[in-house]
Amino acid sequence: MKKLGFIGTGNMGGALVIAAAESNPENELMLADKIIEKADALAKKTGGKLCDNVTVAAEADYIFLGVKPQMLKDTMEEIAPVLKKRSDRFVLVSMLAAFTCERIQKAAGGDYPVIRIMPNTPVSVGEGMILYAPGEGVTEEETEFFLSAMEKAGRFSLLPEKLMDAGASVAGCGPAFVDLFVEALADGGVACGLPRAQAIEFAAQMVSGAAKLILESGKHPGKLKDEVCSPGGTTIQGVRALEKGGFRSAVTEAVIAAYEKNFEL
Ligand SMILES: NC(=O)c1ccc[n+]([C@@H]2O[C@H](COP(=O)([O-])OP(=O)(O)OC[C@H]3O[C@@H](n4cnc5c(N)ncnc54)[C@H](OP(=O)(O)O)[C@@H]3O)[C@@H](O)[C@H]2O)c1
Repeated sequence: MKKLGFIGTGNMGGALVIAAAESNPENELMLADKIIEKADALAKKTGGKLCDNVTVAAEADYIFLGVKPQMLKDTMEEIAPVLKKRSDRFVLVSMLAAFTCERIQKAAGGDYPVIRIMPNTPVSVGEGMILYAPGEGVTEEETEFFLSAMEKAGRFSLLPEKLMDAGASVAGCGPAFVDLFVEALADGGVACGLPRAQAIEFAAQMVSGAAKLILESGKHPGKLKDEVCSPGGTTIQGVRALEKGGFRSAVTEAVIAAYEKNFEL
């Protein structure tokens, strides 16, 4: 049993708290957020303990940093003196977009072990994509513990840290791109006469199933697309309309735009 502390229990930190509670209820969850009600609601839902940042920094074995990048400086100013006083071993787990392990260590004021992760919001329903890069000094046991403590979060992939921003631009930002796609599909359905709720349900389940088919069949998505485009059929007409609208180029540009923003953070 270990203590997992979360500083920032918003969209992403909160989703990881839920996954941690489901993965191993034996681990103690310590939850701190500037908005106390947010952490409190999550504590009640998961059986975690409502805490403040200082207590998390002083006691947790794994300290998950779940604040926005622009809030890191303030957060670290508060907890760095507490971390400095510790003589026991602890690991920082950073989910901050664009922040390298080295930058986290610098902000924390010590060469503490850091696991950099890039999760996404589907973690909250056990279908996340979690990229992780253990920084220098993180032991194999610590990485293994992190993986087992979060195992219900979804699919994990070890990635060299230099590819983390690229991976984040696909997997971390991607849910928002898919949300737009689902909304647009539903708009099309509504335009064709479907009730809104059913149009969203059909679109979302279709996206979920199509994604599963790609992963489980191992087939290239282009091949799967070809398989549903029968000659002279309806689907190829939709594909034609998407190509005319620059669909693939727009999506590729979205990923690159998100990637480039990392350099400004
Ligand atoms: N959302 C995603 O899909 C996603 C994916 C991958 C990684 N991330 C990363 O996850 C981090 C959190 O993003 P998010 O979307 O979860 O943001 P969020 O929903 O705004 O959650 C952050 C929470 O931390 C609180 N907070 C701010 N300063 C704090 C402090 N000093 N001590 C304790 N709590 C503090 C915030 O309160 P206030 O609102 O009052 O500031 C907020 O409740 C970011 O670094 C982001 O790069 C997010």
